[in-house]
Amino acid sequence: NDLWKNSIVHNFPPCFSQSSAISEMAKCVRQSGKPSVTPKILSDLRAPWKLMPAEAKVPRPQVTPIIRQTEEANKKVQTTTPPPLTDSAFNFKSYLLNKDNRNFNLLINQPKKCRKTPGGPFLLIAIKSVVEDFDRREIVRKTWGREGLVNGEQIQRVFLLGTPKNRTLLATWETLIHQESQTYRDILLWDFMDTFFNLTLKEIHFLNWAAEFCHNVKFIFKGDADVFVNVENIVDFLERHDPTEDLFVGDIIYNARPIRVRKSKYYIPETMYGLSIYPAYAGGGGFLLSSRTMRKLSRACREVELFPIDDVFLGMCLQRINLKPILHEGFKTFGIVKPSAAPHLQTFDPCFYKDLMVVHSLKVAEIWLMWNLLHSPRLSCTQKKQVKKPFQWKKKAQTTTQASPLR
Ligand SMILES: *[C@@H]1O[C@H](CO)[C@@H](O)[C@H](O)[C@H]1NC(C)=O
Ligand SMILES: *[C@@H]1O[C@H](CO)[C@@H](O)[C@H](O)[C@H]1NC(C)=O
Repeated sequence: NDLWKNSIVHNFPPCFSQSSAISEMAKCVRQSGKPSVTPKILSDLRAPWKLMPAEAKVPRPQVTPIIRQTEEANKKVQTTTPPPLTDSAFNFKSYLLNKDNRNFNLLINQPKKCRKTPGGPFLLIAIKSVVEDFDRREIVRKTWGREGLVNGEQIQRVFLLGTPKNRTLLATWETLIHQESQTYRDILLWDFMDTFFNLTLKEIHFLNWAAEFCHNVKFIFKGDADVFVNVENIVDFLERHDPTEDLFVGDIIYNARPIRVRKSKYYIPETMYGLSIYPAYAGGGGFLLSSRTMRKLSRACREVELFPIDDVFLGMCLQRINLKPILHEGFKTFGIVKPSAAPHLQTFDPCFYKDLMVVHSLKVAEIWLMWNLLHSPRLSCTQKKQVKKPFQWKKKAQTTTQASPLR
């Protein structure tokens, strides 16, 4: 935000143009050595918001954890090889050619994020998002991603963003993200295109950012915006750990195999990954790491070749520092499977969530509802880990109107 804010009043051309794109702005920054762009923000302030795109999130697969479904096509890149089999075919050639290009500018920073509390925050919540997903960020801010104290521990939050891949409404998104950053001070924006296959860049840049601007944090939760996180449980768990020791916990996937079927959307050729099994890695819904592990990973990942699947890439970094990720039952990054013994059970029964840490794939309304139900003074789950009653619409829905503040 500082970059944009400082640049509004001063310099107009050479870099400014009506169609100023975020990436063009960054080019200007690079060329001139200092911000010299005037984004079209002032004139856009009164423009009506065109927010709330439908779910722009890419769904994760329910069966094969290796690669997620994606809509990222690499349509623009032309090669001499036959045309892709599907819209979503991934251009490996282009990826391999460009994979040394892995350092991108930070367009919006929050340099003071971790300086607010003496000694640093206890937990930094870092959430992958895309610019268009404003509504998801809002609900996370209002619920599990709240900044402040949880069980007496300081929580801070950042969203991790790249530039929108759909350039059509770029001016609107620029305005939005600028305003959002001014209002919430929780936006980190890098100058690479926010596509599924660029999530690895997000991983690298976030770790570097944390090592530079948040080295005093004790623990980090990194996850998606469509998860429900039980922060109280996470804090409780982390309080029993030492941030100066290694820790990496999540829904760990072992012995996943790269897909070698050429026709598959998710094909990974041997030229890209020669071994038959991926290293252990955490499902991307969310995972925890200590400050020490963050610093070690930030260095290790610099030495690992880019790999298009971010979860697996991080697994490779972990392998490089010889760190065994720990599987925790509380992380349900592929969603909850209803217990077969209780088929009547609604998966959004709050008692179901009481002992969990992270649950993946929730709609905005479900996240809001779950958070409120869990923080309702009227919530009573008679037996921990065992849910007796199905969710009751009429009885419990009334309690959702009163959100109880965090302790
Ligand atoms: C980009 O956004 C515009 C405006 O919302 C929309 O009409 C268009 O279909 C989008 N393009 C793609 C490729 O999603
Ligand atoms: C990643 O971002 C860079 C920079 O914006 C872009 O050139 C590239 O096409 C993106 N790669 C993929 C695989 O989306």
